[in-house]
Amino acid sequence: MRAITLIQPPRIVFGVDSLKQFTTDFNKSGYKKALFIIARSAKKSLNQVFENLLEQKVLVEVIEYTFREPTFSNYEEIVNDARSFNADCIVGVGGGSVLDVAKLVAAMQHNSQKLEEVVGINNLSGRSAGLICLPTTSGTGAEVSPNSILLDETTQEKKGIISPFLVPDAAYIDPLLTLSLPPKITAETGIDALSHCIEAYTNKFSHPVVDEYALKGIELIARNLHKAYIDGGDVEARSAVALGSMYGGLCLGPVNTAAVHAISYPLGGKYHIPHGLANAILLPEVMDFNMPANVHKHAKIALAAGVEEKETEKATAGAGVERIRELACSCGIPTKLTDIGVTKDSVDELTGLAMKVTRLLKNNPREVTYEDARNIYLRLFE
Ligand SMILES: [Fe+2]
Repeated sequence: MRAITLIQPPRIVFGVDSLKQFTTDFNKSGYKKALFIIARSAKKSLNQVFENLLEQKVLVEVIEYTFREPTFSNYEEIVNDARSFNADCIVGVGGGSVLDVAKLVAAMQHNSQKLEEVVGINNLSGRSAGLICLPTTSGTGAEVSPNSILLDETTQEKKGIISPFLVPDAAYIDPLLTLSLPPKITAETGIDALSHCIEAYTNKFSHPVVDEYALKGIELIARNLHKAYIDGGDVEARSAVALGSMYGGLCLGPVNTAAVHAISYPLGGKYHIPHGLANAILLPEVMDFNMPANVHKHAKIALAAGVEEKETEKATAGAGVERIRELACSCGIPTKLTDIGVTKDSVDELTGLAMKVTRLLKNNPREVTYEDARNIYLRLFE
């Protein structure tokens, strides 16, 4: 078994009312100036937290994140505001976009490096501010991962900044913060989390340590996402999906994603399709493509998702792909790219952009050629 390094937040608090634990821990932390970068929807949940921190004489500044998926210029705007406040701790509260920006701000506010210099793997020189993340969606796993993804609007490419300095000091994952999430976002973000687990499990560089997280995440999300989609107030289902999402996030550092994410990024870059939605449409199609490369693991995915064992491993694996397709469908995910406004004449451009995401394509269990990627897009128009 080859060696693998796991870099995770030193403190992960998971479960109902973790938010209360955040306040208690923060008050003991010694931080004096906290900058909260938050989703607007998270504001109400934080009123009590702000009151408590102010009582403890913590200086609090709040930046409301009002953009969609973050671009280079969105990030620059926020980091400039952050620099003028000069916090000793950055707290991100929101979905993946908010957390990705908060993570980068924490690492860059006292850093002379330019954004272009830190894009890629292990280019960040450090992080001097504290960093705490509280997710309000169950999707990206950004609260435990070393990744931040921004859109470079000049090239329409989603670019990753990957560094151990982007792993937060603490993550508080409170399923109660996800209760008010609309069904559509629940579905899209949940399938994004599922794709993190599936892409790590079937990854060319998969590892038994990470396989454990991935398979458990697949089981939790595949068996509970529809319940959370139908009844957003189902705390048990929300907790199960949140846990699955956390496992997905823990896969992202040591193993990371593959062709689903690579082929989905151009849909975000060119058409501004939300990350989760783009992945959700692509996931069954890419699983179908990848299955021959590792039938055994695809059969294990099927069983984890609740499929009954068939006569052959191949049949079980195939039923698993169908199960994931049905899950997406039952959660209202469209099956065609035309349903989300993508036109067939852009397929060559999309394919060209996808082939540039070599940092993820290299992880795919089956080699993806230009023709393969193009065909995957094309099948989503049939
Ligand atoms: Fe993702």
